[in-house]
Amino acid sequence: MRNQCASRTMAPRWWLLILCLAGNELHGRAQLDSRGFINIDCGLQGEESYVNDETKLVYVSDAGFTNSGTPYNISAENYRPWRSRNVRSLRSFPDGVRNCYTLGSLVSGLKYLFRATFLYGNYDGLNKRPATFDLYIGVNFWMVVNMSWWGLDQDNTATVEAIIVVPRDLVQVCLVNTGGGTPFISGLELRPLKMSLYPQVTAEVRLFLLRRRNFAAINGTIIRFPDNPYDRLWYPRSDATMWAEMTTTERVDDVNGDEFEAPMAVLQTVIKLLNTSGSIKFGWEVAPELNNVSPGPGYLAVLHFVELELLGGDALRQFNISVNHDESWVPGYTPLGFLRKAYVYNKFTNPRDSSYIVTIKATANSMLPPIINAYELFSVIATTNVGIESQDGNQFN
Ligand SMILES: *[C@@H]1O[C@H](CO)[C@@H](O)[C@H](O)[C@H]1NC(C)=O
Ligand SMILES: *[C@@H]1O[C@H](CO)[C@@H](O)[C@H](O)[C@H]1NC(C)=O
Ligand SMILES: *[C@@H]1O[C@H](CO)[C@@H](O)[C@H](O)[C@H]1NC(C)=O
Ligand SMILES: *[C@@H]1O[C@H](CO)[C@@H](O)[C@H](O)[C@H]1NC(C)=O
Ligand SMILES: *[C@@H]1O[C@H](CO)[C@@H](O)[C@H](O)[C@H]1NC(C)=O
Repeated sequence: MRNQCASRTMAPRWWLLILCLAGNELHGRAQLDSRGFINIDCGLQGEESYVNDETKLVYVSDAGFTNSGTPYNISAENYRPWRSRNVRSLRSFPDGVRNCYTLGSLVSGLKYLFRATFLYGNYDGLNKRPATFDLYIGVNFWMVVNMSWWGLDQDNTATVEAIIVVPRDLVQVCLVNTGGGTPFISGLELRPLKMSLYPQVTAEVRLFLLRRRNFAAINGTIIRFPDNPYDRLWYPRSDATMWAEMTTTERVDDVNGDEFEAPMAVLQTVIKLLNTSGSIKFGWEVAPELNNVSPGPGYLAVLHFVELELLGGDALRQFNISVNHDESWVPGYTPLGFLRKAYVYNKFTNPRDSSYIVTIKATANSMLPPIINAYELFSVIATTNVGIESQDGNQFN
């Protein structure tokens, strides 16, 4: 059964929305696990489900979530033992402009993290140049997935994440062929979030992850479930030429009303500059995958700090956090006391610069070098058609 949205013409994006009003959809089988997670291994065949070695979460085949496309395995020469099993198989969509996965049994008005994963792995044996296609959540453009942006350093695997408030109990994630090759998808995951997390996210505003980094990760591993109950992926970041690493096994204090709930394992590792000169820097470019979004996106940066050293009475650690040349973002910041969790964040709306550098630099008064545990960077995107999506009987989202 082909989705009626399918059409061979390359239509502008707004046209697709109209076409899809008439589309049929699967009524998303209830596939939530006991935590409300949905774990789909796209293209999985030969078995219905399996337990992921690392997280112990159960992954299911995508058969009940989409009614189009063709399952494939990546080619044998692309098999790597360290890769998550999720990327060994995939579903490819040679037919139709728009093909969708329907996720059901959600709770309308609640906040969810969506994650989609893509690895080409020469599944078609053609060794083609990487595909480029568009991704939507319901009627909302999510991003361009241009596989050539995910190079060897990311193991050629694209992992994209969005945090949204779902307008209905049923949400479609759609791949749209824009003439850049056959769309495909390896994995699709959904995790419910507490409403109090990421308060920037509302029915009108979504966050798309640009980067989430955990400094000084032990053994350079990605922190995720069960260390992080929401199964966010915290990627390791280290550089011994610039930073010393510190770790603790002691508990980091919780804070009331924590809006980001960085996991304990992330907060137990920190980098510090080798000395008080120089600075810790990281940054981002205006996301090319969102260049179709109008008005242009804003950004949200969240920085996590925990003091892991028991400091003597007058030993001051103090730093300025600046973005580009804005010294006044967070001047004279001192992390809270020993093992106390803290974060700072800022929303950059109507950005004019095309790239951003966050600089963390000791103040003249500081006796100790700056530290940081982790950071998260997001694009902040307005939801389109909030009204339309909430109409009853509407056939798409
Ligand atoms: C992928 O590999 C698995 C395990 O070898 C096999 O059961 C399945 O049929 C394969 N899928 C395809 C589409 O060839
Ligand atoms: C995908 O990205 C590559 C590298 O940035 C670029 O050369 C190419 O034009 C992009 N493809 C499309 C269709 O935008
Ligand atoms: C890190 O690797 C070492 C050696 O392989 C191992 O003994 C240790 O348990 C690992 N630590 C963590 C936290 O994974
Ligand atoms: C501080 O560390 C940097 C390397 O990160 C080094 O080049 C510089 O000489 C050091 N400065 C002092 C005063 O030790
Ligand atoms: C830190 O910020 C303050 C206030 O903006 C400024 O006066 C000071 O020069 C800055 N220090 C450094 C080392 O950049």
